[in-house]
Amino acid sequence: QAADGAPAPLFPFTELKAGTDERHHVAPGHDAEVLIRWGDPVLPGAPAFDPQNQSAEAQAKQFGYNNDFVGYFPMPGAADPAAHGLLVVNHEYTNEELMFPGLGRQDTKGVAFKGMNQALVDIEMAAHGGSVIEVRRVDGKWAVVPDSPYARRITAMTPMTISGPAAGSERMRTQADPAGRTVLGMINNCAGGTTPWGTWLTCEENINYYFSGKLPEDAPEAKNYKRLGLPANAYAWGRFHERFDVTKEPNEANRFGWVVEIDPFDPTSTPVKRTAMGRFKHEGAAGIVAKGGRYVVYQGDDQRFDYVYKFVTEAAVAADPKANRDILDRGTLHVARFDADGRGTWLPLVHGTGPLTPENGFASQADVLIETRLAADLLGATKMDRPEDVEANPKTGKVYVMLTNNVSRKADQADAANPRGDNRFGHIVEFTPDGGDHAARGFGWEILVRCGDPSIAAVGATFSSATTRDGWFGMPDNCSVDAQGRLWVATDGNSASKTGRADGVWAMETEGAGRGTSKHFFRVPNGAELCGPYFTPDDTTFFVAIQHPGEADEEDPNAAPATFEAPATRWPDFRDGVPPRPAVVAITKQGGGRVGT
Ligand code: FEO
Ligand code: CA
Ligand code: CA
Ligand code: CA
Repeated sequence: QAADGAPAPLFPFTELKAGTDERHHVAPGHDAEVLIRWGDPVLPGAPAFDPQNQSAEAQAKQFGYNNDFVGYFPMPGAADPAAHGLLVVNHEYTNEELMFPGLGRQDTKGVAFKGMNQALVDIEMAAHGGSVIEVRRVDGKWAVVPDSPYARRITAMTPMTISGPAAGSERMRTQADPAGRTVLGMINNCAGGTTPWGTWLTCEENINYYFSGKLPEDAPEAKNYKRLGLPANAYAWGRFHERFDVTKEPNEANRFGWVVEIDPFDPTSTPVKRTAMGRFKHEGAAGIVAKGGRYVVYQGDDQRFDYVYKFVTEAAVAADPKANRDILDRGTLHVARFDADGRGTWLPLVHGTGPLTPENGFASQADVLIETRLAADLLGATKMDRPEDVEANPKTGKVYVMLTNNVSRKADQADAANPRGDNRFGHIVEFTPDGGDHAARGFGWEILVRCGDPSIAAVGATFSSATTRDGWFGMPDNCSVDAQGRLWVATDGNSASKTGRADGVWAMETEGAGRGTSKHFFRVPNGAELCGPYFTPDDTTFFVAIQHPGEADEEDPNAAPATFEAPATRWPDFRDGVPPRPAVVAITKQGGGRVGT
């Protein structure tokens, strides 16, 4: 309480000015320092980053491209668990035009990159996946521990196990894997989650980009692939690796689009694709223990008019981490229906129930999971405006759904949970599980905020009147709830031409009189989006991932094309000949204490 009896502001920090330029900026009183960049060493023996002489061998030992999800695991037994731990980082995708000299501007709209060759494709494949790094804060400054025994690179070539109900299905079998139980690599790993038993959940999102070729209309997987936009022919991989050509290996694409579970504390462990959690364009997988002890993982399927899911384990989470090793293999996947009366229902995706029968093309639970979207269509789930992160707030029991935008929704397609046609700026839905139980079937919901510029009436934004002209944002994407139960929203899609501001982080009040008030905290350099915000357990460090710095402003017809030679910024090195480098940044409060206070 403040002295006059008014509630103390939840976010007392001094607000950052919105805007765009070539650098990153954080609210006054904070430091924001680059921790690790694309090309920095991860594994022992990794060569120094040399953008003019790249190789797949070097890249497989170096930090990958386009860092997205970031998760922090305190080192067991550490003197200060908030100053020593493992950082796990997703490497979602690659920007060839910014990575490779001489490639020039590329047309990614359905045309595989023309200038690509096998050497460049192999570098790209090694730049995908994830990294595990050991990090330590010494004298207030974070650094990567060199030659750590935990250090690991996971790429598009790393052997993985397929587990759960779809493992071994005929539709998962390929020439290289006649058993349908092992696969090389994970791709387009967007957001994710960390589990209480110490594992990293990393989510395959836009897997359609990597596959090429044209499937005949009557091919067995034609309907399945069409629903996922497969193949999208956006990358050249299929020209050099036949498994990514759907005409050569028609089932390979069924082995992508899953949630992958990885034990970061065992660098020899085999990553596992957990098929029980469904196959779609997974944004993230943020979990929480439900009242009865079962684990609930919320998941968004990031596509216009796609769905929000949750997976509920069959077993309760055990105290012994080892006992939870395969807990994500058994459980029930549900999809959300949001009704106009503010109520909602989780619809179970269980073979043999309702329309999920052989007559409708589902011969087994494997079929339901491989074609999760088609199963959810039949159940009548609510078509949402691109569901991105879905995170529960352990302090309040509420769950926040980031709906980033949907310009394809027509006014007459608006519904209560997606109330705007031509929804350019997105919104956030908040729901409360019945009985405070995340495993419950029913929930109540409302809209926390409709995003966009509140000073333009036609936009229909609903930020509180206490929100300043720097405080509003559009296109919510990732989010994080800190240890105090405060919501932090990261965005993807703000730009000089769209909103007059760069992407970044905004602190969002969700409770009490300040509900709906947003405050600008951090912003990214030109062309970048803000991913993976993640706090250490005591909120003293806030890790953020700066993805694809230097991209051109797509919405601006006058913007010059961005290339290796002429990027929109050379952040963070600012050296001639060195391209922009996606990087993880550690934000701390000057003089110590919780970030954002
Ligand atoms: Fe990879 Fe939905 O953002
Ligand atoms: Ca995202
Ligand atoms: Ca995004
Ligand atoms: Ca992205």
